[in-house]
Amino acid sequence: MLENLSGLLAEAKQKKYAIGAFNTTTFESLRAVISAAEECQTPVIIQHAQSHDGIIALEEIGPLMLEHAKKAKVPVAVHLDHGATFERCVQAIRLGFTSVMYDASGKDFETNVRETQEIVKIAHAAGVTVEAELGSIFSSEVGNSEGDCLTITEDEAQLADIYTDPQAAKEFVERTGVDCLAIAFGTVHGIYVKEPRLDLDRITKIKQAIDIPFVMHGGSGVSAADYHQAIQNGICKINYYTYMNQAGGEEIRRFVQETPANEPMFYDTITKRAQAATKADVLQAMRIFKGGSV
Ligand code: 13P
Repeated sequence: MLENLSGLLAEAKQKKYAIGAFNTTTFESLRAVISAAEECQTPVIIQHAQSHDGIIALEEIGPLMLEHAKKAKVPVAVHLDHGATFERCVQAIRLGFTSVMYDASGKDFETNVRETQEIVKIAHAAGVTVEAELGSIFSSEVGNSEGDCLTITEDEAQLADIYTDPQAAKEFVERTGVDCLAIAFGTVHGIYVKEPRLDLDRITKIKQAIDIPFVMHGGSGVSAADYHQAIQNGICKINYYTYMNQAGGEEIRRFVQETPANEPMFYDTITKRAQAATKADVLQAMRIFKGGSV
């Protein structure tokens, strides 16, 4: 069933679990995520990022996402991930998405506030939830599809500038009225080239300043212990894509390597294998986000 995100997040916040938000860039990944959520009996968010338009356009995958959400046996929110323009957010709202992210985190604070306010006004009038971002969430050079890559710094002083500041978060949320906020505390979009070092206390400090649901971007590759601590500290939505995508890709590699060269190979066999491997990876993530172990 298609649901608004705010109700799902309110329950997750109260019961201290996180809802997985999975980017469904193919028909197979869409089916994998919905069937994993049904098997796990958990609410789920399916999302499309503007940066994934090169794989499939919003107008192509959006209606399919909505159709699958409506038919699902669990609550499903359909969300626009990393919307970069006002027009893109309106397009998602008109398609029937129940939630949008407007990401102006690369702009200065005042511009981010002003532009997010505009999105909140129109989205809330249409009963749609809004996520925004404050701080800089890095992108790995490997497996990243979320835009510009930034070099990962070790410098503590520099990190303090890049990670979300609790007082700025409070002011931002109060002025914009966003429903949830993506915060920067050390996660990275794409494949981690070294062990992630997360500033999990920062989540607590932000929550002490402003108590709304927080979003972890770059959810792939975090340890179960760190997911659990992040959830305890205030994370209610975890964006997860790279590792489920890699699980499908690696399964295809295995299948191709195992198939003798003189045997025929069929495309639909490959997509089925990729879908099953994607589902297994998503299922494992969902169980951890619900509080379980690996
Ligand atoms: P990963 O691809 O690193 O899992 O991050 C997904 C994400 O944050 C989408 O917004």
